[in-house]
Amino acid sequence: MIELNRSELYFKDGDVDKEINMNQSKIKKNTNSTKTANYAKNRTIFEDGQNINKDHTKKLDINFKKTCSCPDSHINCLTAKEWVRNQVAIWELYYEKRDIRDKDIHPAVFPIALPKKCIELFTHKGELVLDPFLGIGTTLIAAQDLGRNAVGFDLNQKYIDFTTKRLSQLEFNFDNTKQIAICDDAINIPKYFNENTISLSVTSPPYANILNHKRLNKSIRSDLRRNKYFNKVQQYSNNPRDLGTMRPKKYAEAIAEIYKGILPLLKPRAHCVININDLWENNHRYPTHSYVIEAMEKVGYELRNIIIWDKRNLVNKVGIFGWPSNYITLSTTFEYILDFWRP
Ligand SMILES: C[S@@+](CC[C@H](N)C(=O)[O-])C[C@H]1O[C@@H](n2cnc3c(N)ncnc32)[C@H](O)[C@@H]1O
Repeated sequence: MIELNRSELYFKDGDVDKEINMNQSKIKKNTNSTKTANYAKNRTIFEDGQNINKDHTKKLDINFKKTCSCPDSHINCLTAKEWVRNQVAIWELYYEKRDIRDKDIHPAVFPIALPKKCIELFTHKGELVLDPFLGIGTTLIAAQDLGRNAVGFDLNQKYIDFTTKRLSQLEFNFDNTKQIAICDDAINIPKYFNENTISLSVTSPPYANILNHKRLNKSIRSDLRRNKYFNKVQQYSNNPRDLGTMRPKKYAEAIAEIYKGILPLLKPRAHCVININDLWENNHRYPTHSYVIEAMEKVGYELRNIIIWDKRNLVNKVGIFGWPSNYITLSTTFEYILDFWRP
């Protein structure tokens, strides 16, 4: 078994304070939002995608304006100290109890902590968040936690149904925001929103046809490799519009087409975050992350940040492969978080 080294980057509070004080003159006084003391009953709307907006002539009825009192020049509600901590380009994230990691429910779920961090970085309270490839609703949970309105789309009704159930189990919605899950192809997103209303799009799309193979579990130690998913294909669906069925080139074209439609819905300088990983097939690497960057730039987005999701805390009992002739890093140890904006 291979022991993976961990390294962590710490900021000492004193250093942060010093840095902030030095910049004090530049930082406008942050008038923090008064906490909405509205403990109204859960006002989340759970709508069945099939009944929503059938004719697409009416846009969704959902708020998108900030409800906090932060200055308009701020892009989020973070304090200067929180901002400094978020400058680290490597993110280590943890799954919490509410996270769903059962691959029989959904084969590829990111932790609530991922969209949560993006929402905190790129939106204010009350603003509108979009997840074009919602899966089982992780982004909507994060949005509700943080008092943001949010809408997510997925091709598969079973994932939308699961999301709806999941959201209904949350007891309170303190901020009177809405989180809506809709069963539709992401290509249709422009039919649901007015232009310049979305403050953040955050998602993890299918990683091209990565799941469309029999699972060989090569990264797992050999005696544990034959688990219940071994030799099984775990794809989202066979729908030809499902990005998870597409070869990398067609996939990049589909991503470009979908995000071209989303661009005008974003507010100017709104961020658009895509969590992605590269694809290995028959000893060949398909750098899906660079295909996505190319596709996004082609349709008008500007790449701002590349963040590495350090997944070493989630990997254990790894197997050895490639030794001693073919060096291949473990793709389970990190993923890309690509951050674009609408220029
Ligand atoms: C990686 S998963 C997202 C998982 C999600 N982040 C979560 O935590 O549950 C990608 C999702 O995209 C959906 N999908 C694939 N093609 C789509 C399309 N054209 N439009 C909308 N959703 C699509 C799949 O059904 C799948 O659930």
